[in-house]
Amino acid sequence: MSEKATLNINGETYDFPIVEGTENELAIDIKTLRASSNIITLDPGYKNTGSCESAITFLDGEKGILRYRGYTIEELAEKADFLEVAYLLIFGELPDEEQLSKFHLDIKAESRVDVEMKKILDGFPKSAHPMGVLSSLTSALIAFNPSSVNVSSEKDMYHAIVRILAKFPVLVAWTLRKKKGLPLEYGSSSLGYVENIHKMMFRLPDEEYEKNEIVIEALDKLLILHADHEQNCSTSTVRIVGSSHAGLFASLSAGISALWGPLHGGANQAVLEMLEAIEADGGDTAKFMAKAKDKNDPFRLMGFGHRVYKNFDPRARIIKKAADEVLGDLGIEDPILDIAKALEKEALEDSYFVDRKLYPNVDFYSGIIYRALGIPTDMFTVMFALGRLPGWIAQWREMRLRGEPIGRPRQVYIGENERRFVDLINR
Ligand code: ACO
Repeated sequence: MSEKATLNINGETYDFPIVEGTENELAIDIKTLRASSNIITLDPGYKNTGSCESAITFLDGEKGILRYRGYTIEELAEKADFLEVAYLLIFGELPDEEQLSKFHLDIKAESRVDVEMKKILDGFPKSAHPMGVLSSLTSALIAFNPSSVNVSSEKDMYHAIVRILAKFPVLVAWTLRKKKGLPLEYGSSSLGYVENIHKMMFRLPDEEYEKNEIVIEALDKLLILHADHEQNCSTSTVRIVGSSHAGLFASLSAGISALWGPLHGGANQAVLEMLEAIEADGGDTAKFMAKAKDKNDPFRLMGFGHRVYKNFDPRARIIKKAADEVLGDLGIEDPILDIAKALEKEALEDSYFVDRKLYPNVDFYSGIIYRALGIPTDMFTVMFALGRLPGWIAQWREMRLRGEPIGRPRQVYIGENERRFVDLINR
C-alpha cells in the first residue's frame, strides 16, 4: 500500500500522508491541503469526510458490522447490561464487579434533580414535544450545576459523567409524567439502573412498582443497541459543540436537538406514525411502496435506508427478533407488526430498494417494541436519547482528552461578488 496520496492540481503536485485505522480503513490526511495549495475539499453531508480518529465504535456498513470498543453488538446485547456497556463505551474497558458497583453507587448518589427544575418543566404545555422539553431541561441543568468540568482532572470528568448519567433518566421520566399528568417521581436506590428508569417513568401514585423481567430486559437491550454509532449527526453535533469548550451538558442538549429530526432519531416515531397511517388507510402496503418509489412524491419509507449501512443494519436483526419475543411473551397481537413485516418483505424483494441498498434500519422495529412496552409514540426518540447518552459522553470525553481543535468547516462561497449598497429610497 502506498503511504502517500498525490494530488495534481493545474500541474502542481501535493503529497498527503495516508492514515490507516486498526481495521485497515484508509484516509487521506489533508490537514495541510489549504495551507499548501489554497484549495479546500467540498463534501456536503460529509459523506467522505472523517472528522476525527476515534477508538470507541467500529462499524462496517458494507458488511453490517457494529462493535463497541471491539466487542460485537450481538455479544453485548446478549451478555451485557446497559450500565456495563455505558462504562465500556466511556472508559474503554468492561468494568470488573467492583468498578461496576462503584459506578452504580456513584450514579445513585447523584440522582436527585433540584426541585426548582420542576418550575421549568411546569412552563411547558402538556402538548410540547418531549424532545424539545428534554433538550431544554438538559440545558437548564447547567444552571443548577454551574461548575465547568476541568477536563485535565479525571476526577472532575468522572464526576460530571456520573452526574449526567444519574440526572438524565429523571428528566426523561419527568418529561413523560408531565405529559401523562402524573406526579413527578424520583428513583429508588434499591433498583437496577434500567429498572429504576422504568419505575420513575411508569409507577402510578397509588401502586407499588412491580418489576416485569421481560420489559426490563427488552428495554435494556434497546438501550444497548442505541448506545453509540460513531460519527452520526447527533454525535458529531455533541463533538462540535464540545469542541468550542462548551460544557458537557450544553453539548448533550445540542445532541438531543440533532437527534430529534425525522431523518435521524426521530425516525422511530415517524415509522410508527407511518405504520399507523397505512393501517388506517386499509393496510395496502403496495400503495405505500409505490409512493416511496415515486420521485414526485416526498413520501419515504421511514425506517429504511442508512447513510452508512448498505447492508442489513445488525441492530435491526437483533431488534426484529426481540420484537417477536417481547410481543409473544407479553401476549400482544399487533396488526402494526404484520404491516411492518409485509413492508419489509416487499422492500427486500423490490429492485428500487435492492439497487439502492436500502435495508431496514434500527428504527424500523424499535417503535414496535416501545409501543408494546407502553411507551407513547412521541417518547420514542427520547428513549433513543436515553440509550445514546453514554455514546455521546464517550465521544465528548474522547474529543476533549485528545485536545481536538474547534470544529469549523469551510465553504465554497457562491453568492454575489462585491456590490454597492443602494439606499432604501432607490430600491
Ligand atoms: N424510502 C425511499 N427512498 C429512499 C429512502 C427511503 N427510506 N432512503 C433513501 N432513498 C433513496 C433516495 O431517494 C435516493 O434515491 P436516488 O438515488 O434515486 O435519488 C437513494 O435512495 C439514496 O438516498 P439518500 O437520501 O441519498 O441517502 P442518504 O445516505 O443521504 O440518507 C437516510 C440516508 C437519511 C437515512 C435516508 O435513507 C432516509 O431518509 N431514510 C428514512 C428515514 C430514516 O429511517 N432515518 C433513520 C436513519 S437511522 C438513524 O438515524 C438511527
